[in-house]
Amino acid sequence: MTPTAQATAGQIAAVRWDGEAPVIIDQRVLPAELLELRLDSSDKVVGAIRSLAVRGAPAIGITGGYGLIVGLEEADRGGLTLATLDAVTERIGHARPTATNLWGAVSRVRDAVASALAENRDWRAPALAAAQDIEREDREACASIGDHGRRLLAGRRRILTHCNTGRLATGGDGTALAVAYALHAAGDLDEVIATESRPLLQGGRLTAWELGRAGVPHRLIVDSAAGAAMASGLVEAVVVGCDRVAANGDTANKIGTYTLAVLARHHGVPFYVCGPLTTFDPHTARGSDIEIEERDPSEVRGFGGRDVAPASSNAWNPAFDVTPAELIEAFITDVGVLRPPYGPAIATALARPG
Ligand code: MRU
Repeated sequence: MTPTAQATAGQIAAVRWDGEAPVIIDQRVLPAELLELRLDSSDKVVGAIRSLAVRGAPAIGITGGYGLIVGLEEADRGGLTLATLDAVTERIGHARPTATNLWGAVSRVRDAVASALAENRDWRAPALAAAQDIEREDREACASIGDHGRRLLAGRRRILTHCNTGRLATGGDGTALAVAYALHAAGDLDEVIATESRPLLQGGRLTAWELGRAGVPHRLIVDSAAGAAMASGLVEAVVVGCDRVAANGDTANKIGTYTLAVLARHHGVPFYVCGPLTTFDPHTARGSDIEIEERDPSEVRGFGGRDVAPASSNAWNPAFDVTPAELIEAFITDVGVLRPPYGPAIATALARPG
């Protein structure tokens, strides 16, 4: 992947379509550099998603949707077959396993292409329309989450968040960070406490950069300081994102989220999960059915290409953990706040028309 341009505009877009290919901000090099990468082959699309050049459940969904168009253009040598469509869909849609949004977005574009093929129409316009709808709907979902969260959290002026769930992770203002932006815009926020989010430091590198750029007051802590922060009364609510929510409300999110939920329960701090309905998966009954991505142990042994632990040490590197539904105070979604019992609340939300 070669950098094609330096993004300088005020409002950042984690992913954009330039007319022929998705262009992403390379999140591996932030905050040192703000570079864009043009993903003009399916290998680049899959590589960018796997390497976390683009990351965050909604953002990888949007990238996958546009990326499928690039992959199909590559594969269409005078006619696209259903078998080829499905092979490219599988490859891009399963580049990472945990976030519902990736497979959801890629299969939505796939279905638009399959309908066109069945009717002997060109597949390009319907594919692009579906991918653009996914991006626009996510932007709107972020705005809605921010709005619902701002109202729900009124009076809670110090919030703790984990990983990066903002403009770098979505097509809009984010999920948990959309709530922070909305509170800040309303003058109702004192401070965001951001965990570093080891091993890849999405909090330390990305959330701190994003909030700083937007002028939102924040303080960074190491992950292991979260308990002390809660015990010291610094945290009035924990607000996190999600990668896959099972039908019963069990939630996969960045490794360390479960620890925060247990700590929050112990300290009587409400623990909120924010996400669009595109992250809810009615086909996964419970958390233990969620496939958790395991990443290279070298990410734990070191950082930025430098080893900090002995290269010979074994390491375990799950990218996500599962927070049981019973530890979640409420879900802040694009269609409103969901309260327990989550099975029926999620089923009703997903059954809404449109
Ligand atoms: O491995 P990542 O950086 O893709 O993990 C991202 C998260 O866990 C986010 O919290 C989640 O995708 C929600 S982003 C709006």
